[in-house]
Amino acid sequence: MNTLTKMALGLMGQLKARPARGDSAPTLALPAARTSGGMPLMQALQQRQSQREFATTALPEQLLADLLWAAAGINRPALGGRTAPSAMNSREVDVYVALPAGLYLYEPASHRLRLDVASDVRRVTGYQDFTDEAALDLVFVADHSRMKLVPAAQREAYAHTAVGAMAQNVYLFCAAQGLATVIRAWIDRDALFKAMALAADQQVLLAQTVGYPAARSAS
Ligand SMILES: Cc1cc2nc3c(=O)[nH]c(=O)nc-3n(C[C@H](O)[C@H](O)[C@H](O)COP(=O)(O)O)c2cc1C
Repeated sequence: MNTLTKMALGLMGQLKARPARGDSAPTLALPAARTSGGMPLMQALQQRQSQREFATTALPEQLLADLLWAAAGINRPALGGRTAPSAMNSREVDVYVALPAGLYLYEPASHRLRLDVASDVRRVTGYQDFTDEAALDLVFVADHSRMKLVPAAQREAYAHTAVGAMAQNVYLFCAAQGLATVIRAWIDRDALFKAMALAADQQVLLAQTVGYPAARSAS
């Protein structure tokens, strides 16, 4: 759906998810992430960039598992420590994954996906048209109830900071794997809040599309 149509539907409160495509399994166990090897960090930094042209091809399960671990996985099991920092270790940002078969919550402790909404929410994750058909859209959501130790005036800024770190992890992972990605703030937040059936303490912060880059046409 193009941006103008999304904006018009949004104004009418009619920007909505599509029916799920495929099997909306209640949970998706992910293979353990591959946490060694890969492109050298400096080379990944050299190649980090935003891209906005995506193929529709789904990511294989292993790549999805690795991506989510890079974004928010547990890298120090004894402490439950994560790949991205959070203020006072609040771990207030949840990573949702909008897939054709449904909206899933990534659970770092069990390293699996749990079905949240059995609809294809990708279209609602941003005004830009590529969100609808790219392999997946990550949605970073703050749970303010987990930030009781953070002064109220700083909670939103701190949560956005945590998302920045997660998003950069995703950028570097994508650079290393030859995937395309872009972090996005241009979102109809009311529409997405409704489509995700979020609770009052939750807040949509940013979204990030991930997928294979669109094939370049021969010139
Ligand atoms: C907070 C934030 C919000 C952004 N929102 C959008 C967005 O809604 N749509 C988009 O296409 N790019 C968005 N971007 C990506 C920037 O446009 C992009 O990072 C910038 O043009 C620099 O390009 P590069 O990432 O390739 O270096 C956003 C970036 C940040 C940090």
